[in-house]
Amino acid sequence: MDQGNGSVVIEFVLLELAQSLGMQFFLFLFFSLFYVGIILANIFIMFTVIFDYHLHSPMYILLANLSLVDLGLSSTTVPRMISDLFSDCKIISFHSCMIQMFFIHVMGGVEMVLLVAMAYDRYTAICKPLHYLTVMNLKMCMLLIAAAWIIGMIHAVSQFVFVINLPFCGPNNVGSFYCDFPRVIKLACVDTYRLQFVVIANSGFISMGTFFFLIASYIFILVTVRQHSSKDLSKAFFTLSAHITVVVLFFTPCMFLYLWPFPTKSLDKFFAIVDFVVTPVLNPAIYTLRNRDMQVAMRRLSRQGVRRELYRYSGLPER
Ligand SMILES: *[C@@H]1O[C@H](CO)[C@@H](O)[C@H](O)[C@H]1NC(C)=O
Repeated sequence: MDQGNGSVVIEFVLLELAQSLGMQFFLFLFFSLFYVGIILANIFIMFTVIFDYHLHSPMYILLANLSLVDLGLSSTTVPRMISDLFSDCKIISFHSCMIQMFFIHVMGGVEMVLLVAMAYDRYTAICKPLHYLTVMNLKMCMLLIAAAWIIGMIHAVSQFVFVINLPFCGPNNVGSFYCDFPRVIKLACVDTYRLQFVVIANSGFISMGTFFFLIASYIFILVTVRQHSSKDLSKAFFTLSAHITVVVLFFTPCMFLYLWPFPTKSLDKFFAIVDFVVTPVLNPAIYTLRNRDMQVAMRRLSRQGVRRELYRYSGLPER
């Protein structure tokens, strides 16, 4: 079969996550539990925000959209890693590999912009409270979310158009647990130095830039709060430290994957787990465990919502 441009590779080989049966079993349990947790928790957040009108504010709408993207990001790799754990040869077809790379970058790009949008939302709420309602209205929120998806698409397409046309004719061992641009383009049988630079600039420098921008904004917010009163500071510090944790956890693997020139297997494994398994479950955990409004909304939903829905579907009169 020919993929165009004289290429002959029709499938790629991924690395195996664990050699021993015990480790395979452990990772199977670990990934499965976390993946179920990611699905349930993120769907729960989206459901709570959509159905409770008390939460129809920019902060929670952004959060629900982040949950959607977390779910998507984790679904690009985790189900495949789980099903590959016990199979002998980790083969992925050319098309699946391309599709996986594309969606990792769409979702990753959207997540990056959403994190910036959430920082901007907190900045306005904390540093410009008098202007918050005029600046961060629902229209602005929709605009930010639309921008996130457009930027995510551009980010993914601008790398994908180069890679999809590369000829692959030689070795097909990706040397990673999933397909991603920096590893796959090294397998092409043409010189890819320029393309490697495109990927480093488009994924590496952008994630590094976003990371430092986010950290700087959070420090700026904290400094502003500090000038006002120390009681506000401790409250804001809790909210912001949650955001900062997510930002550090999400971006450290990104920066290493795209900028560090010497990939190592154990570090790659650790980073894949952090970005696709840990961060997507962390967002819901942080926002539900530490956020009063979310907890109140959940209790309200579980008390009234479910009962009301049941009545509606059963056709019985509501008491
Ligand atoms: C994402 O944002 C849009 C636009 O503001 C909103 O209508 C939608 O409900 C949000 N998505 C989720 C899953 O909450």
